[in-house]
Amino acid sequence: VRLSRRGRLLGEQPVNFLMEVALRRPELISLAAGFVDQESLPAGETLSAAEALLSDPAAGRAALQYGTTKGFDRLRELVLDHVAKLDRCSPADLRLGLENVLLTTGSQQLLQMLSDILIDPGDIVLVGAPDYFVYMGTLSSLGARIVGVPMDEAGLIPEALNETLAWLERTGELQRVKMLYCCSYCQNPAGVTIAEERRPQVLELLQRWGEDGPILLLEDAAYRELAYYGEPPRSIRYYDEGGSTVVLTQTFSKSFSPGLRVGYALLPAELMRPVLRLKGTHDFGSPNFNQHLMAELMLNGGYARQVQRLKEVYRTKLEAMLAALERWLGKACPEATWTRPLGGLYVWVCLPEQINTDHESELFNRCVERGVLYVPGEYCYPDELPCKERSGLGGPEHTLRLCYGVQPLERVVEGVRRFAEAVAELG
Ligand SMILES: Cc1ncc(COP(=O)(O)O)c(C=O)c1O
Repeated sequence: VRLSRRGRLLGEQPVNFLMEVALRRPELISLAAGFVDQESLPAGETLSAAEALLSDPAAGRAALQYGTTKGFDRLRELVLDHVAKLDRCSPADLRLGLENVLLTTGSQQLLQMLSDILIDPGDIVLVGAPDYFVYMGTLSSLGARIVGVPMDEAGLIPEALNETLAWLERTGELQRVKMLYCCSYCQNPAGVTIAEERRPQVLELLQRWGEDGPILLLEDAAYRELAYYGEPPRSIRYYDEGGSTVVLTQTFSKSFSPGLRVGYALLPAELMRPVLRLKGTHDFGSPNFNQHLMAELMLNGGYARQVQRLKEVYRTKLEAMLAALERWLGKACPEATWTRPLGGLYVWVCLPEQINTDHESELFNRCVERGVLYVPGEYCYPDELPCKERSGLGGPEHTLRLCYGVQPLERVVEGVRRFAEAVAELG
């Protein structure tokens, strides 16, 4: 087979390796998989919405037909209002209209499409260090150079972003920077939320350093609605006064059901057209029935009820994981630290430098022997980290991600206990 350049650029994805280990040992407690809670998936709400939709034959048939490339208009209107409500303002305050709204097959499709239309091989994308490894795989497959910007408990560090951009200017590569990717709420993998005061600062830097127009910011707000302690900050998009710096993408995968895979994006007008053209060659529209279902669920209150239920379920699991870390890891390894997220699905653990966490490390193997799996930090860092000394979340060699999403509560706790035992053996 003679693969294309793109085909050859596709590297092995970490997720394949982790799934393989999990499949070999089905009894293993995977705190690696980023799946949502199984027991709270909304079968009942989905059934009643589907019944309502299909009990009117004409409406049912419309939903079962192909839709449009942009997506179902009613749902586009609803998500526009929804985002404005989350930002505690009106769509007009966000300087957004229906023409800026696109429905996608999960937010992953938007990440892929936007990257496809923007990135030539050798172009630079800035990401957090650490960041979402699936998206880094997407970027690598396009031949992008991925440069990490350090973070701490309050998210991306603006001073570190400034230094990174200054470094790129010194090396003569500033004009190759195409965008900054930022998972702005309860980030995957570190669980951190970029602090409110940092949001306009990051935007200002992107506007200042951009050579011909601002550097684009891709704001991935996948975990925005899974915030368990009060209202999270407004989106970075909210602060984008010109409306041309930020692309915001959100999804119903985490807050309702990943099986439906309905995502949406708010795009500046000049990006909408190329993205739509590309989407026309992908699928000329995401599954129409699922979009009708989500519209029904937003209108009948089923969606809002589910988000409320999930907040309870996940808060309990998050608190159980943090308590288990305190109880067992705190004892096994007093130098260990971990993040205390306000929501999402992940906790980030930093171990002392002498404990390596990579997928071939003694710790990883001992964890598998004991029947527990984590995501090694190495998968979550890009190769280039010019300001790494600023990192407040450790480095690739001695960090890891734990997920409390899919496992039932008792297994979350048991998984942490086993993990701490494996750490203690190395101490
Ligand atoms: C940060 C982040 N963005 C995007 C996605 C993609 O979600 P979906 O394509 O299901 O909307 C995920 C899924 O895990 C994620 O963690």
